[in-house]
Amino acid sequence: IPFDQDKTCEKQRDIVDLDKWVEHYRSYAEKGQCATYIPALEKINPSQLGVTMVGPDGKVLKSGECEVAFTLQSISKVISFIAACLDFGTPYVLDRVDVEPTGDAFNSIIRLEMHKPGRPFNPMINAGALTVASLLGGRSSLEKIESFLSLLEKMIGKRPAINEEVFLSEWQTAHRNRALAYYLKETGFLESTVEESLEVYLKQCSIEVNTEDIAMIGLVLAYDGFHPIRKEQIFSKEVARLTKALMVTCGMYNASGKFAANIGLPAKSGVSGGIMAAVPARVSAHNSPFPHGCGIGLYGPAIDEYGNSVAGSMLLKHIAREWDLNIF
Ligand code: DON
Repeated sequence: IPFDQDKTCEKQRDIVDLDKWVEHYRSYAEKGQCATYIPALEKINPSQLGVTMVGPDGKVLKSGECEVAFTLQSISKVISFIAACLDFGTPYVLDRVDVEPTGDAFNSIIRLEMHKPGRPFNPMINAGALTVASLLGGRSSLEKIESFLSLLEKMIGKRPAINEEVFLSEWQTAHRNRALAYYLKETGFLESTVEESLEVYLKQCSIEVNTEDIAMIGLVLAYDGFHPIRKEQIFSKEVARLTKALMVTCGMYNASGKFAANIGLPAKSGVSGGIMAAVPARVSAHNSPFPHGCGIGLYGPAIDEYGNSVAGSMLLKHIAREWDLNIF
């Protein structure tokens, strides 16, 4: 078989595998449900499942509902953390938010009072993300969101839209987040007003993406801040490594330990059902269609008790096992 045809056969086999796995894991969505605490998310079809993998040479493998738009939700916490580090330097950010996992729910308030002076434990929980949102570069919420969007645009190559319905829906029901923001204001960790910080945080959560967009974010992280397709260093290796360490230890909330043990990839989830994972190049991944690493974006809106996509996590576990992507 001539070389090119050989490659085509390989690619077709990979897609056939991926399609088979997506169809198999789709039924696991029944074990979860769409986020009910955000009214706009409740009406989404829970049995959707899609995945996109993007390699450094631009090679793309995709399957299922990979083009469906969904909101970033907590995946945005990764981008705002990087944006804040770019705007103010890592030491400034880490003075205001720590890098320790909590083992508590993403919206928990308990540790803020238990550990003086109340510095949020990490930027992947809501207390930390509100703090980070409050210190993004810019004097108004509009400018802060702009700082977030321009970083995201560099990674995904387009300017995404904010889903106003999801934003309003969250804004009207954000009682816990408002409580967290007031507490952080009182302890001096919030650098903007409560309303401004909340607006920035909820708008970043309401940005619309698809699986390919978040796969691109994963790819840039896998390449330590370098965009291998655009050939541009977007953020430093140090910031990328810190972010990936936070993803491994805190990215899947209080299921991060289980996720590291069973799947073994730096990843970040959101309540709308997205999962973004960064896969470094691996010598042992010779059976993988991406031996030089890749970014993975998954979407499956039915989530478990921790806030992670049920079918998405299972599909990612299967992909990581079949193609030997576990970093440990
Ligand atoms: O803060 C919230 O309630 C949401 N907008 C984002 C939380 C989220 O995605 C948590 N996820 N798993």
